[in-house]
Amino acid sequence: MDELLREWFDRNGRDLPWRGTRDPYAILVSEIMLQQTQVERVIPRWRAWLERWPTAAALAAATSGEVILAWQGLGYNRRALALHRAAQAIVTNGWPDDLTKLPGVGPYTAAAIRNQAFGEPVLPIDTNVARIQERTGHAFGPDSLQALFDLGATVCLARVPRCDVCPLAAACPSRGRRYEPLRKQSRFEGSFRQRRALTLRLVADAPRQLGELDSEAVAALSRDGLVEEEAGLVRLPV
Ligand code: ADE
Repeated sequence: MDELLREWFDRNGRDLPWRGTRDPYAILVSEIMLQQTQVERVIPRWRAWLERWPTAAALAAATSGEVILAWQGLGYNRRALALHRAAQAIVTNGWPDDLTKLPGVGPYTAAAIRNQAFGEPVLPIDTNVARIQERTGHAFGPDSLQALFDLGATVCLARVPRCDVCPLAAACPSRGRRYEPLRKQSRFEGSFRQRRALTLRLVADAPRQLGELDSEAVAALSRDGLVEEEAGLVRLPV
């Protein structure tokens, strides 16, 4: 199966910019961005980020406010602060053996960095990879990771897999099956997450009086260190 998949990948793989690097910092940035944001939206933002902060040292020297501003539009803004603190930890202590010691890095992201940056034989299992393994009943090797990302994103889709163009179909016990809609991501419209995002956007634009803002959203942002409040004025942290 791995062989079939990799032949397919050679002809059909996506040209994703982080595939051109093994720099652990650049891979860390890509994986944190990709945790909750779609590939197409991440591509231009990853490029811009690495142009502005090409190294962990460069990012570590930025202010939190600059980092939050540069993250605007990617969503789940706490990731920006985690990435910033991870860069500072790397500059101070070097890369830890256990990558999950870095802020924002859980077991999946750690395995993704070990595979892509350090060339270690571990396969990070995200929902796409898990789905393909379940359907095919095959445990893929670490060298198939990039092909699995692409098969999961373009062919072995969650609900209506495109088995007609799948390189693994002939050997796949789930060929032709259809799947029930999975739970939808909860609505962003009208959610507290949206209120937080709107409030952070206002404060990122310019410091604001607490009185003109959604105070519950400010309290939540402040707890997460995304804004600071002093004498009734709310601003990005320095
Ligand atoms: N999803 C998570 N990491 C990814 C990567 N490096 N490439 C494509 N999709 C991903």
